[in-house]
Amino acid sequence: MSSLPLAPAKSLTAQNLTGTIRVPGDKSISHRSLMFGTLALGETRVSGLLTGEDVMATAEAMRRLGASIEKDGEDFVINGVGVGGLREPSLPLDMGNSGTSTRLILGMLATHDLTAVVFGDASLNKRPMARVTVPLIQFGATFMTRSGDRLPLAVKGTGNAMPVEYVSPLASAQVKSAVLLAGLNAPGNTTLTERTPTRDHTERMLRGFGAEVTTAETSDGLAITLSGQPELRATPVVVPGDPSSAAFLAVAGAIVPGSALLIENVMQNEHRTGVFQSLLDMGADLSLQNTREVAGETVADVAVTASTLKGCLIPAERAPSQIDEYPILSVAAAVAEGTTRMEGLEELRVKESDRLQGIIDMLTAAGVTTRSGDDWLEIDGMGGSVPGGGEVFTELDHRRAMSTLVLGMVSDKGMAVDDKNCILTSFPTFVSLFNDLGARVE
Ligand code: S3P
Repeated sequence: MSSLPLAPAKSLTAQNLTGTIRVPGDKSISHRSLMFGTLALGETRVSGLLTGEDVMATAEAMRRLGASIEKDGEDFVINGVGVGGLREPSLPLDMGNSGTSTRLILGMLATHDLTAVVFGDASLNKRPMARVTVPLIQFGATFMTRSGDRLPLAVKGTGNAMPVEYVSPLASAQVKSAVLLAGLNAPGNTTLTERTPTRDHTERMLRGFGAEVTTAETSDGLAITLSGQPELRATPVVVPGDPSSAAFLAVAGAIVPGSALLIENVMQNEHRTGVFQSLLDMGADLSLQNTREVAGETVADVAVTASTLKGCLIPAERAPSQIDEYPILSVAAAVAEGTTRMEGLEELRVKESDRLQGIIDMLTAAGVTTRSGDDWLEIDGMGGSVPGGGEVFTELDHRRAMSTLVLGMVSDKGMAVDDKNCILTSFPTFVSLFNDLGARVE
């Protein structure tokens, strides 16, 4: 996707971030609205779609597979092809930086009678795909991958799929969603069992589009069963604000001295809100206001005021509900009083970059002491601002870039990143929004 040159940026000490803001639409729901709109018959209207590069990669792939996707004012309108109706793409599908696009679309392709080539940027081409190709082969698809089950790859889907029962060895909503998307075009029941619950947007949205999805507790965990070959009906989607983007503002509001922020319309799906619980455990002055239901999801306004945070234990069980938020949580831990210990971090190694190493490098560059193992991290909080003065190489990882820029706001000498363009994947308005609140990101 982004072939822009590197854009260095620096974030200087800030104070008194105040205001009422909104963050862009949720990335997970945005991807799924385009995919399910493509697999539905009729016109799906999506409001509040995130227009970051990751979601635009999904939109472009859906067009190449036969959907029409048009912008209509602030909305996006999808005319789908129906389950079983995907067209073979004549060109390779470029997934840019987006693991979610890749893994979910591989599920769609696996049970259609077509061959497609999929590739990504330097970050995505390093990420493991076996986690989805292993279950998708069971449906009858075949894959030819680069060494280490990595992109670029070619998939030959089957028009004659077998339904699958799969117990996921990973706590991964991407794996769950890939299997359920493949199951859409297999006859009979496809069942995915997850030992640890993960974000349930696929299940909720599939039901909204008319599929039958049931759940049952089993000795292996939660079994999610989809009845195959439903006729999906086009359905309007209202995308709520992304809690993963709101997390950057919530942490900044909690740690930049003198700050008071109200972040409106933030999704509160229980599988996504671990970061707010972790901030509360650190003693943040954070509360939810105006909690309400919007289009099948709970949303609320998050009010946060700066205060002194305290280090704490952030337990492994919470990891799936804040899996993308560890870089920004580590910024909160860096200024807290005392040590924060985070456990259950193994999946951070295979995100847009090795995020556990990325956090350590960022904090070291800011003068903060850490200790770590394969899947845990301890951060010795400074009890106030960090020295700063370092530069971070973002390695095409948007969340490392944004976390470093927030860290700069609570540093004595500022923090620099080699590239802010990677932020365009998920939160294109990040820099302008923070600067409007009083930050100094240059
Ligand atoms: C996502 C699931 C998570 C998350 C990613 C989005 C999704 O990945 O890290 O940013 O939309 O399903 P895993 O399911 O692999 O943990």
